[in-house]
Amino acid sequence: MEIATLQNEIRKLLRERNAILIVHYYEREEIQAIADILGDSLALNIEAARTEAEVIVFAGVHFMAESAAIVSPEKTVLLPRLDAGCPLADRITPDQLAQARKEHPDAAVVSYVNSTAAIKAGSDICCTSANAVKVVNSLMEAQEILMIPDGNLARYTAGFTDKKIIPWNGYCPVHHFLTPEDVVRTKALHPGAPFAAHPECRTEVLMMADFVGSTAGIIRFAAKSPAREIILGTEEGVIVKMKKESPDKTFIPASGNLACRTMKLTTLEDIRDALREMKNVIRVTEEIRVPAKRALDRMLALS
Ligand code: 13P
Ligand code: SF4
Repeated sequence: MEIATLQNEIRKLLRERNAILIVHYYEREEIQAIADILGDSLALNIEAARTEAEVIVFAGVHFMAESAAIVSPEKTVLLPRLDAGCPLADRITPDQLAQARKEHPDAAVVSYVNSTAAIKAGSDICCTSANAVKVVNSLMEAQEILMIPDGNLARYTAGFTDKKIIPWNGYCPVHHFLTPEDVVRTKALHPGAPFAAHPECRTEVLMMADFVGSTAGIIRFAAKSPAREIILGTEEGVIVKMKKESPDKTFIPASGNLACRTMKLTTLEDIRDALREMKNVIRVTEEIRVPAKRALDRMLALS
């Protein structure tokens, strides 16, 4: 079926179901084009908490839809592809977290939102890449912070706080496998182009960056920069928004491997089918939802 026909069908179903379509910047272009809300993890979390729609369709990965179900339990949250997971979120289990708490009894636990509901439930507070430094520094009473599951974000945050940061050893395969050699090669092909990177990239890569920020931060940087060419150390889906804001600029992924496989799984057909059949409802048990909401609310209160 034609893209425009599917898009119209989805918009009609959204109206009929009193639903909104929330879309992450890493999703396919034709899905970003019909979003009610397009954003990074923090913005989408805030919107999921305050929308008045009865149904939230989440074009993103599993932990994002789960977060929406945690903060808005009275809403129906649909994830069009149940297999759209996040390998980073799967890098820590509740048992491993319990063990780490035993090993670091004085540490506060800050969990990146890229984590499962059960991990959020076992955390003191959540963070996103947009607010990690603010969240860590808000924990006045804690001198030690166990940051899970992304080690790169933890090491990056450590540079902006006096607290002792204990990084977990998880990573996002999309950002972590971008190497300094990739960046050197791309910079050589585009001399003078600034390099903007996401804090999920490894430290050696971040040290080469002219700007480090969350997905939305990088998009803002790209719009404001006077440069005509910008090299990107983040998932390539951001280029859709960047091109819209600055059609005359060129955006260059720093490697050919910056597409998140699971973010790209969702298609327009998946969204249409989920809405038509009201299927793939994401549910979180109250036992996990309540403490997970506490950790998310504590973060949202700082936003
Ligand atoms: P942000 O949207 O917070 O930048 O997160 C990046 C990411 O990897 C989402 O899965
Ligand atoms: Fe997970 Fe990385 Fe994909 Fe984000 S980009 S969903 S952190 S694998």
